[in-house]
Amino acid sequence: MTMRMRAMRASVLAVVLGGMAAPGPAGTDGQQKPPSAWSRERGEAIFFGREPLIGRLEGDNAVIPAELSRCANCHGSSTKGQAGLRLDRSTLLGLKKRRGGPPSAYTRDAFCRLVGTGVDPAFVIAAREMPRYALDEAQCSSLWTYLTDGSESHAR
Ligand code: HEC
Repeated sequence: MTMRMRAMRASVLAVVLGGMAAPGPAGTDGQQKPPSAWSRERGEAIFFGREPLIGRLEGDNAVIPAELSRCANCHGSSTKGQAGLRLDRSTLLGLKKRRGGPPSAYTRDAFCRLVGTGVDPAFVIAAREMPRYALDEAQCSSLWTYLTDGSESHAR
């Protein structure tokens, strides 16, 4: 093994161990907070920006201001007429050609990947206008449930 490789290994290990040793979010009493739960209501709050997410445009480090990054701005009722931007059971769960790729449908995991990285279920990359979001499992499950549970109140 070369010195360089050994050094790389050591730094990778340091990152892994450092991450493991990092304390979780602590409450005022020093106790670890339980991971926040997911719910349809939380998904609605995220969709309309009451719970802001950190969103960025691909290739840009600047965080988009919350009032511009909320999903409803581009996927809400006012954009109903715009093809391709409606998010509900039929557009997400239906087998559809998206962005010129082969027909594909979303699962929760595929949805989370799209929202986080822009890569769609057929591995086609979404346009830059769709921000990439830093979101955790609970936030993503909340959004997914809100958009696909069939009540469609977000599309009113
Ligand atoms: C600034 C406008 C904008 C915002 C804000 C935005 N999107 Fe998008 N989104 C788009 C555009 C434009 C596309 C279509 C991209 C393409 O087809 O390449 C898209 C595509 C998507 C798709 C893929 C749909 C499909 O059929 O493949 C999903 C899922 C999605 N957005 C979810 C979200 C969620 C969830 C949020 C909020 C966390 C959000 N978007 C916020 C503009 C936006």
